[in-house]
Amino acid sequence: MQTEYTARLTGAGNRLFADPQPTPDETSFLVDNTSKRYYDSPYYKRHAEDLQAVPKPSSAQPRIDLADVLEPTLVDVITHAGRISFHAVGDTGAAKVDPFQSAAKAIANEASVADAMSADVRRGGLAGPAFFFHLGDLVYYFGEGRYYYDQFYEPFRGYDRPIFAIPGNHDGMVFGSQPDTPKVKTLTAFLRNFCSATPGPSPDAGAVMRTTMTQPGVYFTLDAPFVSIIGLYTNVLEGPGVISSQGGVYPTVGDDQLAFLTAELTRLAPARKALERAVIVATHHPPASVDSVHGGSTGLADDLDKACTAAGFWPDAVLSGHAHLYQRFTRATGGRRFPYVVAGSGGYSATKPKAGLAPAPVTVGEYTLERDPIVEFGYLTVTVTMSTRPTLKIEFNDRTNTQTHDSVTVYLKSGKLS
Ligand SMILES: [Fe+2]
Repeated sequence: MQTEYTARLTGAGNRLFADPQPTPDETSFLVDNTSKRYYDSPYYKRHAEDLQAVPKPSSAQPRIDLADVLEPTLVDVITHAGRISFHAVGDTGAAKVDPFQSAAKAIANEASVADAMSADVRRGGLAGPAFFFHLGDLVYYFGEGRYYYDQFYEPFRGYDRPIFAIPGNHDGMVFGSQPDTPKVKTLTAFLRNFCSATPGPSPDAGAVMRTTMTQPGVYFTLDAPFVSIIGLYTNVLEGPGVISSQGGVYPTVGDDQLAFLTAELTRLAPARKALERAVIVATHHPPASVDSVHGGSTGLADDLDKACTAAGFWPDAVLSGHAHLYQRFTRATGGRRFPYVVAGSGGYSATKPKAGLAPAPVTVGEYTLERDPIVEFGYLTVTVTMSTRPTLKIEFNDRTNTQTHDSVTVYLKSGKLS
């Protein structure tokens, strides 16, 4: 147990992560983001069902190494311990204001999860979670830069570790006063804040110190010690999530991402087979879901399978958000079993599973819902431990940091789950 805690406000290359003395949580929005008027804009009305083009990554091999971001001392601690831990969750943006929920309550819900994650970092000290991998929907309802302060920078101002992200549908959604011209191109603010060429101050951060992240694209691989996370962008629809043209059905999207996924699985397979690292795939939209509002995306699931089959290699876990509850499936395929975890529990909303769902376990095809979904705000802690029995463990913690509601361990050598 770590007894001392020193805030790690800085990282490699003059990066800043957190404010030295975080102020009390907000109780009202700096910029009112509760209006849904954008949904009535001429552009959105005409294009609500349209997918958006995926911005090209800044490099042919869009990868980022944790060692280029995190302070070297922390990288050394991870390397020497043979253990890395990180946070993941989606749907943290606060905007759900209606007759049942005030702005103050929406803000408090997001803040409760962000504060719990920040406290978890402090509790873990040097050996605690090394970063946060955001599973998308950082801001609602449309991904404008002016909402990043209230919904991202301010809530995570005390989180003194790097934050990486894949965009969710709301982060890429666009609107405009003309039917054929969006006000700004899709993902403009996301690219400015998460895919900048060098770390620096963001015009969207207000007085919060966190510098911009330098991901090579909206889809990319994060290579960390003992784990690689392949993050994919599943585009702007409420559903389905889409990462490819699906054989020409969605020409706007193209097939670059599918080629990237196949290439990255192929690249990482030898290190995984040598038990040097675990491999995780992250998508905002879940391939499988029993949420009452956000179901699974079969085209996306088929694309993942296509890439895995082409690479002859399956990841150790798939993490997703979008559905605002916790769900854990086991996928059984190719002689292997591995978890698909959905955690869109970051504070935006808590949604019930679909009605009439039989008590878990429920098996449909190759997917088994292992336990009843958990309608609770919280976050995932993912830990990879390299030892004689290397493991990948995924836990779902609630926002009080007093309860781990569910956990699953993947034994990397045998492929067994517990
Ligand atoms: Fe979403």
